[in-house]
Amino acid sequence: MKVLMNNELIDRKEAKVDIDDRGYQFGDGIYEVIRVYQSKMFTLKQHLDRLYHSAEKIDLTIPYSQAKLTTMLEELISVNHLATGTVYLQFSRGTQTPRNHIYKADLTANLVSYTTEKVRDPKEFRKGIATITVFDERWFHCDIKSLNLLGNLMATNQAAKSGAEEGIFYRSSEEVTECSHSNVSIIKDGILITHPADCLILNGITRQTILKVAKQHNIPVEERPFSLAELKTADEVFISSVSKEITAVAKVDDVVIGNGEIGPICEKLLTYYAEEIENDCGIKLKE
Ligand code: PDD
Repeated sequence: MKVLMNNELIDRKEAKVDIDDRGYQFGDGIYEVIRVYQSKMFTLKQHLDRLYHSAEKIDLTIPYSQAKLTTMLEELISVNHLATGTVYLQFSRGTQTPRNHIYKADLTANLVSYTTEKVRDPKEFRKGIATITVFDERWFHCDIKSLNLLGNLMATNQAAKSGAEEGIFYRSSEEVTECSHSNVSIIKDGILITHPADCLILNGITRQTILKVAKQHNIPVEERPFSLAELKTADEVFISSVSKEITAVAKVDDVVIGNGEIGPICEKLLTYYAEEIENDCGIKLKE
């Protein structure tokens, strides 16, 4: 397998990170995960826009234009013969010796990117996962897709240890925000409700696509904070991310949602989402 290190495609075993890389030492950098279907990157423009916005917010300069970066990622997909999977890419602020909390202004950001094969399995989206609620102790820059994921990892692992697949964050009993590695939405009386895209959540590209298709198909949408009580009494709950697409939630803590199976609106959204993949990538999905 080849990986992209800065502007070079090299063998995975040749890829080395300097001990003074600021991403390695401080988590000083940003990343994206882009879904690939039949060798085509889905919602690429939205991912690149979010990447460049994340960079701007932490005062990091990406040393390539969006067009150049697109070509580099396409070459990576091609050389690895990736059909269905993901592209991971990260930019650290660069290498700085000696280690210093204050970053130099003239550093060149380091790119690392590689591909992972991942089959699309809609059965996984429908089966209904178990989740737990976790107090959101993270910072106020959740809109930045930062390499610093310790708060997220702590919640993910707390969920895993209790036999759940995802931790749903709340800042107070009145405000559910997002999940440890996905966004969360509820359906109540036919209305799709999800936290607004502010500094308390990562504005998921999947979330944005879902809101777009929901509006196109006249499903009412409310972007507002919702409470833990609303979460647990919702008709349907689902999480969303690039790899989980729209995954139904069967359980929140000890509470079974609906009848513990994927609900009717979630099922419709899955269909609309698949259509969006087909349109954006110019492909026909096999279910
Ligand atoms: N995680 N919120 C958080 C905290 C996330 O980590 C993610 C995605 C999302 C959903 O974003 P998107 O729809 O753009 O995937 C929301 C990625 C996939 C990850 O860290 O692997």
